[in-house]
Amino acid sequence: MASQESSKAKLDQEAINLTASQAATTAYSGSRAEMQTDDGSDRASRASMYTYTSGDANHFKKEEDGRLWNILNNSYFMPTDDEEWARLNKQHVALVLGLGDLYPEPETVRAILAPVEGETKRILDLGCGSGVWTIAMAKKFPHAQVIGVDLAPTPVDMDSLPPNCSFEIDDINPGLPHYEGKFDIVHCRIIGAGLQDRVQAKTFVQECLKPGGMLIWMDVDYDLIAENMDDYEQRASEKHAGGSWCARMLYDMSQAVLSASANDLTIMGDIIDEGFWADPLMDPETCRTASLYIPVGPWVEDRIPEQLQRLRYMGALMRQDVSNGVWTFHPLLKRAGFREETLKEWSTKADAEMANLTTRMWSRWMVTWGRRRSPDAGPAPGTTPVNSKDEHFAAPYPYLVCYSSRDEALAASMRRRQLRAAIPSVL
Ligand SMILES: C[S@@+](CC[C@H](N)C(=O)[O-])C[C@H]1O[C@@H](n2cnc3c(N)ncnc32)[C@H](O)[C@@H]1O
Repeated sequence: MASQESSKAKLDQEAINLTASQAATTAYSGSRAEMQTDDGSDRASRASMYTYTSGDANHFKKEEDGRLWNILNNSYFMPTDDEEWARLNKQHVALVLGLGDLYPEPETVRAILAPVEGETKRILDLGCGSGVWTIAMAKKFPHAQVIGVDLAPTPVDMDSLPPNCSFEIDDINPGLPHYEGKFDIVHCRIIGAGLQDRVQAKTFVQECLKPGGMLIWMDVDYDLIAENMDDYEQRASEKHAGGSWCARMLYDMSQAVLSASANDLTIMGDIIDEGFWADPLMDPETCRTASLYIPVGPWVEDRIPEQLQRLRYMGALMRQDVSNGVWTFHPLLKRAGFREETLKEWSTKADAEMANLTTRMWSRWMVTWGRRRSPDAGPAPGTTPVNSKDEHFAAPYPYLVCYSSRDEALAASMRRRQLRAAIPSVL
């Protein structure tokens, strides 16, 4: 468990939510979760807990190579600026279309979040980025309190922010004791790159759940999958001229991260692929994992018009996501010794390969979820089914592969590791 010193969120963001461009400093206080009471009296007491000081838009950020970066955690290698938030927002749409909702197992999530007299339902979005998922959840569950946490200010406009939604600036790595046992749903999406000890972080995060609360964790496979949806795509190199430049740049990026901060990006994915079955806090009966395959580019065919439209749209979004990512890696790769001209040449080739759809690839997103045990370490408390239905699509997404037992998930994870090890070297 983290020390008391680290148990405080660094900053409540309400003061800097004034406009997207007015991120200002505030002197911190406590976290919203710390101060909340079930009678809803937190709002008034909280208003006096921070001091708005100035309107320095770049506070909590630094500028480098024409982009803005967080200052709390050096090992997190993606920027925090308008361009990155636009990328994340598109990525969010693709992921929601693939899952069919904002989360897996919608019936269970709705049952967990169903209003209960005298109880405040709470949702925590760790590493919330642009806040797109956080705000969508706050709108969908207006009776719940929703908190987003990130290393950098979230670009939200107070005028349109739902009143049940707030943001805090903090680094998850030192632990989250001020959140312990407070949340019905905890969501972590693609935050592995900013975590130091991922196994420990997983425990911190699980401790934030109320008994029966659900943790949903997603991350991405940084190696692209070949058209056959099984093998990994070959990375382009002098020896493999026919390989993919997107796959090559993703590989060089993960190697650069590894040597710069000893951060192995594959670890988070492996943890997610193996699920929460073996975690003492979690009820194994409620644990599941899934692999969501999204085409990189609009190349997949389907005879059902609704599916085809969805696949084409998701593919177009994922192509923009990968392309934007490839260019965003330049500062990191330059620090790792790559020449700017080389990076421009490779990124242009990567864009061409996606624009022309010459290389048909999938991006794989791993998802795992499960519910916390009851306080006596028994099964998660039961939920009452809710009738409302709000799925976006009548037909399930065809490329969401679910694993409902630990053995199945482990076998699939082992196979992925073997396939990854078989990707030819770029040297
Ligand atoms: C790839 S973005 C994903 C954002 C959002 N979860 C989404 O899916 O749209 C990762 C986010 O996690 C945040 N992050 C990474 N490591 C973190 C940490 N240790 N503590 C808090 N936030 C972190 C980053 O600042 C970034 O905004």
